[in-house]
Amino acid sequence: MKFFLDTANIEEIKTAKKWGLLSGLTTNPSIIAKTNTEFREIASELCELVNPFPVSLEVVARDTGGMVAQARILNQLADNVVIKLPTNPAGMAALTILKEEGIKTNLTLIFSASQAVLAASAGATYVSPFIGRLEDRGYDGLGMTRDLMSIFKNYNFDTEIIAASIRDPHQALDVCKAGAHIITMPFAVLEKMLLNTMTDTDLDRFLNDWEKVPGKENAFTERVG
Ligand code: E4P
Repeated sequence: MKFFLDTANIEEIKTAKKWGLLSGLTTNPSIIAKTNTEFREIASELCELVNPFPVSLEVVARDTGGMVAQARILNQLADNVVIKLPTNPAGMAALTILKEEGIKTNLTLIFSASQAVLAASAGATYVSPFIGRLEDRGYDGLGMTRDLMSIFKNYNFDTEIIAASIRDPHQALDVCKAGAHIITMPFAVLEKMLLNTMTDTDLDRFLNDWEKVPGKENAFTERVG
């Protein structure tokens, strides 16, 4: 199980890294737009910060030729770039060309198991089913994740499933139970997974009791000699 962040916020990335909870990064045009920073500048900064882990950067052309041309340029930014392509006919054709060139891909905007199976069979490095957006619209995103896990096992695909568009810790845990290889989530969800008020109150109790321990002042002083 690997956790990716779905953000371009530098402070959030640094914090997750500090916690040892960053195995990769995903972005999309909406996430990049929020940074209000020149694209090449932010893209390079993200790749450097997250290195050696993968950073998904999305193409913004609608046709295969445009996607491939953009992908080649993005791929030169850093060694850890993964090209995000839409899972549609133009994206699949771009995937086929980029795979031949050894460029890693993340097939995104996946809303059905069939799209994920096709992208995996065509050799995508990652597939990203949008669990939260499916559930927002009343579909069974979790059931789809379970189906995908069993289909992927049947065929031994090398492609990794990134459960994406995760809304809360429950959804994150549900896709863990389903066995998704990777979860990408906003920093707020990662933080909610970690924080628990019972941990805080019970830590306070321990530390209050510590005050009663004889010799507490010398407990952590370095011994000389
Ligand atoms: C995944 O790669 C996408 O960037 C992301 O998970 C979309 O999430 P959203 O539905 O929160 O925008």
